[in-house]
Amino acid sequence: MSGAVVELVGITKSFPGLIANDAIDLDLRPGEIHALLGENGAGKSTLMNVLTGIYQPDAGRIFMQGVPVRFASPKDAVAAGIGMVHQHFKLIRAFTVAENVHLGWQDTPFRTSAGLLEGRTRALAERFGLAVRPEARVEDLSAGEQQRVEILRVLARGARVLILDEPTAVLTPGEAAALVRALRGFVALGYAVIFISHKLDEVLEVADRITVLRAGRKVATLPAAECDQARLATLMVGRELGAGQRHSAGKRQLGPIVLQLAGVSANDERGVQALADVDLAVRGGEIVGVAGVAGNGQRELSEVLTGLRPVTEGQVRIGGQIMHHANPAEFLAAGIGHIPEDRLRSGLAPSMNVTDNAVMREYSRPPVTRGGLFSPGAAMTLARHIVADAQVLVPNMRAPVRNLSGGNQQRLVARREMRVAGQALVAVYPTRGLDIGAIDTMLRSIAEMRDRGVGVLLVSEELDELLGIADRVAVLFQGRIMGVFPTAEAEPERIGLLMGGRAEAA
Ligand SMILES: Nc1ncnc2c1ncn2[C@@H]1O[C@H](COP(=O)(O)OP(=O)(O)OP(=O)(O)O)[C@@H](O)[C@H]1O
Ligand SMILES: [Mg+2]
Repeated sequence: MSGAVVELVGITKSFPGLIANDAIDLDLRPGEIHALLGENGAGKSTLMNVLTGIYQPDAGRIFMQGVPVRFASPKDAVAAGIGMVHQHFKLIRAFTVAENVHLGWQDTPFRTSAGLLEGRTRALAERFGLAVRPEARVEDLSAGEQQRVEILRVLARGARVLILDEPTAVLTPGEAAALVRALRGFVALGYAVIFISHKLDEVLEVADRITVLRAGRKVATLPAAECDQARLATLMVGRELGAGQRHSAGKRQLGPIVLQLAGVSANDERGVQALADVDLAVRGGEIVGVAGVAGNGQRELSEVLTGLRPVTEGQVRIGGQIMHHANPAEFLAAGIGHIPEDRLRSGLAPSMNVTDNAVMREYSRPPVTRGGLFSPGAAMTLARHIVADAQVLVPNMRAPVRNLSGGNQQRLVARREMRVAGQALVAVYPTRGLDIGAIDTMLRSIAEMRDRGVGVLLVSEELDELLGIADRVAVLFQGRIMGVFPTAEAEPERIGLLMGGRAEAA
């Protein structure tokens, strides 16, 4: 009998044209945080979907505490104590935190009241060290708070195994640290955590053991203490990687202003002011980085620049031309590409196929549509070209795009948008969800666009990434630009202070 909380033996799962999991073994010990690593498409999410009863394996067995189990549905897995927090939150935005925690939970008291649910939620939150406001509405929460609610929902149902798929991708550094503390407390009770991440430094800090997948197979399971970043990268990729390089530009002529905001204010979805009197200009041939903690107006900034959101005051100009209306088609025609923050909500049509998603932005242009005539053959050819450029492995171009792995969806959106960005690219967290090799490729592509004379507005939370590639850095705090600096003169400490809202000392 094994002491493992969960043991996976020979798990195999195929989809038409590919083997996503090929005879994978994995054991999870009580009290451990176990990281799952691998390149985009390696099979991490698939394996977790098997463990949580979303997919049935073609072969292989699952044991819990040495006893064989079969999960015919996610409900069975939850009943057995396995809880998963997905990358895309599934909360109901109009409900309160307490309501979301109790929704569909069999222990919810029959006769209830807001106060009772809130009290129960508060007790749970205290027990697991996850700070939430039970009475707040989910739509008013930051990404970090929403994630804590998701985790509480899972823990409330008695999870003994907690699975987190890229949990820190959307968190600020402070929120990520708080999450790790809570996870440590959870495993100290003898429970276990599976943690999927692309951030190797974080994995080394958080995990007790690390399992690496490559192209659907397990490569190794190792104690974290025996690993370093270079070794993990080599295991993931199957060869040694060069050190990531900076992509700063040589001496170049700057072009005219391509993106310009003059005194722009805008509201968020709830009608609350999210941008306040923003002046910002991006020239052709430069990358302007936007630094800031998520939720300080980044989304709204990118949306007014791409025609998705009207301004309440001020002016948006593209290539010198005033844009009077928020109309995405006009911004597209003006040569603006947009890599959005949330690829599944605004970047892709998840249930449409890969081909349609790939050509979506060039649908009405030649060669896809010529003289009013749509050519399916030309659409397919272009789509294959985009997919190949994006380095996405797609066995079937007619399959829904939601079947692509998270990182591959991101690659596809980015490549599609770079093609239409003749004047400017607005890229919001473009490296989110990408594996380390793909991050380097993405940054290199962005640098190449700049070198071709395109203007780039790059929103990122990774200050190192911004300082490595941007020519100037603007700091956004509570919807205001706190300052704009040439990267060569930007001191990380000063930028950090401005990101926290501390104005410059005189
Ligand atoms: N429902 C599905 N139908 C067809 N193919 C699928 C399905 N789900 C996953 N796949 C394929 O299985 C492979 C593994 O995908 P998976 O989502 O497990 O990768 P991942 O390791 O989680 O990658 P990422 O880091 O990008 O999230 C991919 O090639 C993906 O396209
Ligand atoms: Mg995944």
